[in-house]
Formats: sequence, C-alpha cells, structure tokens
Amino acid sequence: MWKKSHLAEKYGYTHLSAGDLLRDERKRPGSQYGELIENYIKEGEIVPVEITISLLKRAMDQTMAANSQKNKFLIDGFPRNEDNLQGWNKTMDGKADVSFVLFFDCDNEICIGRCLERGKSSGRSDDNRESLEKRIHTYLQSTRPIIDLYERMGKVRKVDASKSVDEVFEKVVQIFDKEG
Ligand code: C5P
Ligand code: MG
Repeated sequence: MWKKSHLAEKYGYTHLSAGDLLRDERKRPGSQYGELIENYIKEGEIVPVEITISLLKRAMDQTMAANSQKNKFLIDGFPRNEDNLQGWNKTMDGKADVSFVLFFDCDNEICIGRCLERGKSSGRSDDNRESLEKRIHTYLQSTRPIIDLYERMGKVRKVDASKSVDEVFEKVVQIFDKEG
C-alpha cells in the first residue's frame, strides 16, 4: 500500500506525523509527558500544543541541519484545533509558509470501520470504538473549524478519502503534481 511518507519524498517533502511524534515521545524512557500523552490519545483529545510543536520543530530543525535543501515538510495531523493553530503561528511566524492543506474527507462510519480493521494489528490504544467515537467528536468540534478557516484562505485541497486506496492515491498525486 502507498504511504504518505513515500509520496511526500517523491515530491521533495519530508513527512512528519504529529501523531507519530507524540507516540514516540510517549514511549521514550524517562519522558515526563508519556502518561499525559497516553491519556489524551486514549480520550481522543488534542495534546497541549507546547508539547506537539516542540516535537515538530525539533524534527524540522534536525532535518534541515542534516540537509539544508530539505526545507519542505508534509505535516500530517496538524493543526487539529485552535490551540495547535495558535502554537504554530507563534512558533513559526516568519519561519514557515503554509502552501496548502490536504484534506482527506471521509464519512465518519467509514473512518471508524477502517480504524477498527487497523486495530486488529496496530496495537494503538485508540483504535477501539470508544476512543474512535471520542476522536470523531473532537474532529467535529475542534478540527473542522480549522479546516474551514484554511478553506476561507483558499488553501484547502480536498480528497474524497472514502474511495479506494488507488483512487485516493491518484487524486493526491494530481494535487502534488499541480502544487509541486
Ligand atoms: O493523527 P493520529 O491519528 O495519529 O492522531 C492520534 C491521536 O494523537 C489524536 O487522536 C490525538 O490524541 C493525538 N494528536 C494530538 N495532536 C495532534 C495530532 C495527534 O493530540 N496534532
Ligand atoms: Mg496519522
């Protein structure tokens, strides 16, 4: 199956997933945030941005320090709420431009079904119906308004993610071909 990270690389982007960075921090021995992160994840809530933005910024800085050409990022799963957005603006003001937002739009029940399927092997503590319903609630309450805001700025590129893996891939490729 195609991965966002491979596709991103093909177009010169480094893929950074906010959720993956939080999960890595959660399991890092000695992390002072491990328990807090786990609680937010299980409850489908959004971790305070101070934590997430410092993980993101460090990953971006490390990537660019290793190779100064690598200054394009596909940031996955961020910003998820107003707090995320404010943290981004505060930290990245004058440092980073947002070219566009990829919006994988998908019916809630289809998402839940796919994550339950993934849950058979993912080991994720939030791939269960209870957490998934909380995540949908958070999405509708806190994330949708952020997408709407970027929509009003003309920055949203929407993909119908209820379609097949191949169809979604095709559509994302079209977007990257156009946006560069
Ligand atoms: O994007 P992903 O499905 O990996 O996110 C899983 C969980 O990680 C979210 O439900 C949320 O608890 C946490 N998260 C967060 N802030 C983000 C991205 C993810 O708190 N920006
Ligand atoms: Mg993710």
